[in-house]
Amino acid sequence: MKQSLCAITSNVEISPGIHLMWLEAPDIAAIAQPGQFITVCCQGLVLRRPFSVHQADTSRIALLFKIVGRGTLWLAQRQRGDKVDILGPLGNRFSIEPEVRNLLLVAGGIGIAPLVFLAQRSSAQHSVTLIYGASMAAQLYPLWLATSKKRSNLLSLPDSVRFIPVTEDGSIGKKGMVTDILPDFLGWAGQIYACGPIDMYKAMSDLICHSEGAERPKNLTQDKVRKEPKLKRCQVSLEVRMGCGIGACYGCTINTRKGPKKVCHDGPVFELDDILWEEVSI
Ligand SMILES: Cc1cc2nc3c(=O)[nH]c(=O)nc-3n(C[C@H](O)[C@H](O)[C@H](O)COP(=O)(O)OP(=O)(O)OC[C@H]3O[C@@H](n4cnc5c(N)ncnc54)[C@H](O)[C@@H]3O)c2cc1C
Ligand code: FES
Repeated sequence: MKQSLCAITSNVEISPGIHLMWLEAPDIAAIAQPGQFITVCCQGLVLRRPFSVHQADTSRIALLFKIVGRGTLWLAQRQRGDKVDILGPLGNRFSIEPEVRNLLLVAGGIGIAPLVFLAQRSSAQHSVTLIYGASMAAQLYPLWLATSKKRSNLLSLPDSVRFIPVTEDGSIGKKGMVTDILPDFLGWAGQIYACGPIDMYKAMSDLICHSEGAERPKNLTQDKVRKEPKLKRCQVSLEVRMGCGIGACYGCTINTRKGPKKVCHDGPVFELDDILWEEVSI
C-alpha cells in the first residue's frame, strides 16, 4: 500500500455524470490487481473516498466514477496536471481457479469499473463474456456507440471479449435485467464475477447454484436455469460505505457465513455464497 500525490493525466466526462480519469501512479500501477481499490483524499472531506482500479498500464491507473456527492463532484472538477492524494492498492482481488477457462463477468451500471480491468488481464488466457446492464442506452454509451451500434474503444475492452449489453428499456441490446439472461450463460461459465447494485447480487444469489453443502434456492426453476449450472464460484465486489478504508474503524463490517468481515480489509471481493444477503443494506 502506497500513499502518493499523483498527477492527473486526463479527466474526461465520457457520458453524463461519468468520468474516466487517468493518474500517474507508477507504484500503484505496478502492483494493482483486478478487484483492488484505491482511496482518494477529496478536498474538504475527512474520509477518503474508495474507487476500484479500473485499468492500469505501466505507470498510470484509471478510475471510472459516477458523480453522486461532494467527493465525486470535487474529483470530476480536477484538471489535467492537478495532483490528488491516493492510497492503494487496497483490499483483495478477484481470483481465478487454475482449471477454469470460461469467465462470465456481470456488471450493473458503474459496476463495470473493476470488471474491465479483470477482462483486460484475463482475456489472453481465458474466454471472457461480459454482460453489462443499465437502465437505458445512454448509460451504456462508454462501451457501445448507440448510433453506429459498434463498440467504442473508450474503455479499452479487448476485442476477444464477448460483450452483451442489456437495457431495461430495450434501447440497446437485450431488453430486461442482466439477471434475466444470466441463466443462459450458467452452463458455459466456469467462474462468475460481478459488480453492481445490491439488488442485482440478491437476484444472482437466487439464481446461481450454491456451493457444496449450501441449500439450493427454492425459486430456482428449470425455466430460469436453462442449463444445469453445476457448482459455480461467483465472486462479487461490494461497494459499501467506508470509513478509514484500511481496516482500522470497523465501519464497513458485514456479516458473512464465516463471521463478521471488514469489506476494506477482507474484501471488497467476496464469494456470493458467503454473504448473508438478508442482512446487507448498502
Ligand atoms: C471498494 C469500493 C470501490 C468503489 N468503486 C467505485 C468506482 O469504481 N466508481 C464509482 O463511481 N464508485 C465507486 N465506489 C463508490 C464510491 O466510493 C462512492 O460513490 C463515493 O465514495 C461517494 O462519495 P461522494 O462524496 O461523492 O458522495 P457522498 O456525499 O459520500 O454520498 C452521496 C450519495 O451517494 C451514496 N453513496 C456514497 N457511497 C456509496 C457507496 N459506496 N455505495 C453506494 N452508495 C453510496 C450516499 O448514500 C449518498 O446518497 C466504490 C466503493 C467501494 C467501497
Ligand atoms: S472502512 Fe474502516 S475498517 Fe473498513
